[in-house]
Amino acid sequence: MFKEKFKIRLSHKSRAGLFRSPPEIDKRDGKYLVTGKKRVINFASNDYLGLGVSDELKRKVSDNFMKYGTSSSSSRLVSGNYSLINRAEKRYAVYFGYDDAVFFPSGYQANIGIISAFFRKGDTVIFDKHIHASSVKGIMLSGTGFYGYNHNSISHLTKRLEAKKDKRAAVLTESLFSMDGDFLDVSAFKKAKERYCFMSIIDEAHAFGALGEKGRGLARDAADIAVGTFGKSLGFFGAFVLLPEGMKEYLFNFSSPLIYSTTLPEAHAASAIDILDIISRSEDKRGHLRKVSRLMKEGLISEGYDVRGDAHILALLIGDEQQAVSISEELIKKGIFVLPARYPTVPAGRAILRIGMTALHTAEDVEHFINSLKQVKKSDLCG
Ligand SMILES: Cc1ncc(COP(=O)(O)O)c(C=O)c1O
Repeated sequence: MFKEKFKIRLSHKSRAGLFRSPPEIDKRDGKYLVTGKKRVINFASNDYLGLGVSDELKRKVSDNFMKYGTSSSSSRLVSGNYSLINRAEKRYAVYFGYDDAVFFPSGYQANIGIISAFFRKGDTVIFDKHIHASSVKGIMLSGTGFYGYNHNSISHLTKRLEAKKDKRAAVLTESLFSMDGDFLDVSAFKKAKERYCFMSIIDEAHAFGALGEKGRGLARDAADIAVGTFGKSLGFFGAFVLLPEGMKEYLFNFSSPLIYSTTLPEAHAASAIDILDIISRSEDKRGHLRKVSRLMKEGLISEGYDVRGDAHILALLIGDEQQAVSISEELIKKGIFVLPARYPTVPAGRAILRIGMTALHTAEDVEHFINSLKQVKKSDLCG
């Protein structure tokens, strides 16, 4: 009975070109993946600095797990709050310029965990319409009043703030958008914040580690609270929320995912401290990442492709969902691993190939990508 219902839903997805079935990866080897017996260059990764495959980090993480064990076995509120985790959180707060920090098992949980804890019925949350699904889910769970503003439009945000006139409004946005690859206009956002005094939560998942001085991100000047994940530039897993004084206590009392989920183990905290050290001396990697990202964007534009993105995330517009899938499949056959992003991740009819550049890529890899794309019929791309 239920099975039949699910089958029907899946067939609707299929017919709309929205069926998701992630390709199986047999092996990761540096910038390469092996999939279906084929070695391909990975352009679908968020490991922007390549730390996830670095020998230095692999060694340190493995030593930490040997030293501290593999599991914390429960929530911090059930069986105690390890001082090593508190120390690591403090180190993150200091490094990124905030008063305090809390680790979460994932960025998805972090966004749900803070937003649903901070807001409730009667509050006002205004958000960029392109924020991550986890933030949207957090808003829904909170029961707050919510109002979207057009992507990266500070003038539309201002209109919303004028209309609401709620002195306790909160605004949610990202510093580097995960699918569009574009930056928040931090100085305009900051001006709006100064004028309307809203509380700001800025998700820097794709910026921390890769962008800003020593990887400190883009939005410190405009964020009251920031969200970062270990699963992207930091080459690990889990997430951290950067907070003003007193908020950590608040979250321990009101954030359901923090109260009721097994905390990341001490070995994670020890590795997080090692990662900060690596990030602080990764200037070469950040410089190389900037260089190959620019090369890719300029190369694609010079070939006439519609590509957006201000940094290492590039959105190559395809439009039609089915076409995006088939172009991705053709590129994989040519040794290029890049995946489509489709509705509801991006708006309907605006499917993209989401290109994730990393510091492991070379100028030759960029050339290989562009040549392969050109071989996949240009008429396919133009629809
Ligand atoms: C902007 C943004 N925030 C949060 C997350 C979730 O982070 P995690 O993968 O650690 O759950 C993602 C993941 O893709 C993201 O793009």
